[in-house]
Amino acid sequence: MCGIVGYVGPSTNRRAQDVVMEGLARLEYRGYDSAGVALLDGDHVATRKRAGKLTNLRHALNDNPLPDSSTAIGHTRWATHGGPTNENAHPHRGGADGKLAVIHNGIIENFHSLKAGLLDAGVEFTSETDTEVAAHLLAAAHERTGDLTQAMREVVNRLEGAFTLLAVHADTPDTVVAARRNSPLVIGLGEGENFLGSDVAAFIGYTRQAVEMGQDQIVTITPDQVQVIGFDGAPQEGKPFEVTWDAAAAEKGGYATFMEKEIHEQPHAVADTLLGRTDEDGRLTLDEVRIDEEELRAVDRIVIVACGTAAYAGMVAKYAIEHWARIQCEVELAHEFRYRDPVLTPHTLVVSISQSGETMDTLMAVKHARSLGAKTVSICNTHGATIPRESDAVLYTHAGPEIAVASTKAFLAQITACYILGLYLAQLHGGAGARNAEEVMRQLQEVPAKITDVLGRMDRVKEIARFMADTRSVLFLGRHVGFPVAMEGALKLKELAYIHAEGFAAGELKHGPIALIEPGQPVFVVVPSPSSPHNLHDKVVSNIQEIRARGARTLVIAEDGDEAVVPFADEVIRVPQAWWMLDPLLTVVPLQVFACELATAKGLDVDQPRNLAKSVTVE
Ligand code: F6R
Repeated sequence: MCGIVGYVGPSTNRRAQDVVMEGLARLEYRGYDSAGVALLDGDHVATRKRAGKLTNLRHALNDNPLPDSSTAIGHTRWATHGGPTNENAHPHRGGADGKLAVIHNGIIENFHSLKAGLLDAGVEFTSETDTEVAAHLLAAAHERTGDLTQAMREVVNRLEGAFTLLAVHADTPDTVVAARRNSPLVIGLGEGENFLGSDVAAFIGYTRQAVEMGQDQIVTITPDQVQVIGFDGAPQEGKPFEVTWDAAAAEKGGYATFMEKEIHEQPHAVADTLLGRTDEDGRLTLDEVRIDEEELRAVDRIVIVACGTAAYAGMVAKYAIEHWARIQCEVELAHEFRYRDPVLTPHTLVVSISQSGETMDTLMAVKHARSLGAKTVSICNTHGATIPRESDAVLYTHAGPEIAVASTKAFLAQITACYILGLYLAQLHGGAGARNAEEVMRQLQEVPAKITDVLGRMDRVKEIARFMADTRSVLFLGRHVGFPVAMEGALKLKELAYIHAEGFAAGELKHGPIALIEPGQPVFVVVPSPSSPHNLHDKVVSNIQEIRARGARTLVIAEDGDEAVVPFADEVIRVPQAWWMLDPLLTVVPLQVFACELATAKGLDVDQPRNLAKSVTVE
């Protein structure tokens, strides 16, 4: 949550304010309750901040311009402490002279006690935020030491919780000092200029050379230098890397919204995630899984931890891993797992799934699992994010930057990575999947073209969505790997279109939810492939009959050639045939398109739904 940008570059012709505003525009998906900038202007710091989306700040800057400057910081906020008001917007000033400004991502958990001390000392506060505490502490430490980096070091050692802090001080020109603990921060390296950002999107328009910051590190950037130290003051090195995508990947590329663009990027997200996973003999090789093969062979239980959409990818993984690798696998919401005293052993493999790699609930679950001696693998879409760094191993998805707040292409990439992990574990454990791994990989390679095919068939789905713009409630049914798809379809509709939606396991219907069916109730049914084992297909077709008999309007997602559904469907939405285990990669696509189109028909902002943020870095 919260997007952060910092810039210094006096010898370039750029205005720091422009660089920072461009970075904030690319980071706005991280939070959009308010936004603000601070820049160094001679012997003082000038700030502008506004509640609401970035456009409000842009208007404020047009109406009341700030002076030109070559050093600036900027922030886009997802409110935690204090509502989304002008006063609570960042930057916050510190000290009586107001020469220092701070922006912050995260939560300072001990801010109450720190604030009490400052109030006793006569400090006046202008906001309700935890951040302002850091600003006043920094100003006081700077007054004592005359050194912004030293002041940052003193202050961060007093803070508890999660934070990325960026600070500028009028007495320290051409300098931004930043610190991170449990919250993201990357450095961008330029020539005669340097950048800081919550992620590389903040500066991708200017440089692809980046440096990953480690946990509990402080960085001081000047135009020509980047100096990293630990919270203990010892010099440290960041980890350099090159960003492999360009600014265009973080822009809309001709689509009306990021969501539409990302839905259409799904064939690539799957194809790129499959790249380079097998050797010339067709055996799976996972270079990024840095756990010894013997230790992986000894794994007797897998626990998948994740939140939201990523947890639904985890549910698909459970079916695949147990079926292929024959290892017991559980899926748990990360926030529930963390605080229920889970039983783990060194033979438990905890797999976290996270697009951002910064979700605090998932991070805490991973840390807890490690502290209990389990091995941890992270499936993550963001290079160098906190969760993969805190894990024993990482399997990156290659969906590219996901900007729309609601996840689409990352979900497909996560499921793909889960299949790969399942096959790899099967190979190590000699499970049934090992014998078929080559065939499954071949079928997976065909999926991107099939997704493109699905995307080409969406006109009717969009028509239905527009027609249903006033609908108040939609139900989703699925079974086996179709169950998480139903849950995801419901989640997309809730978060994009603000419509009540529920996803159920089709077999559960008769145990209660069928009471919800009344004439006209729209129900999406994700039908298993007729090739699914155990007659699952026929059982779900019976479920369709049961709800149809009670007046439901049935919107059926079924494979090409599945004629058994036709008599009981008000609408049949066709997807190409695929091997049943891989179905979710196709069947979820119409549900994403449906939710996106319906929300658009309601005039809603599909990229930035209300109350949400892309990266949930609070517990
Ligand atoms: C829903 C959505 C969220 C995320 C969840 C986890 O569309 O995007 O439910 O899936 O907040 O986020 P990551 O994957 O970044 O850990």
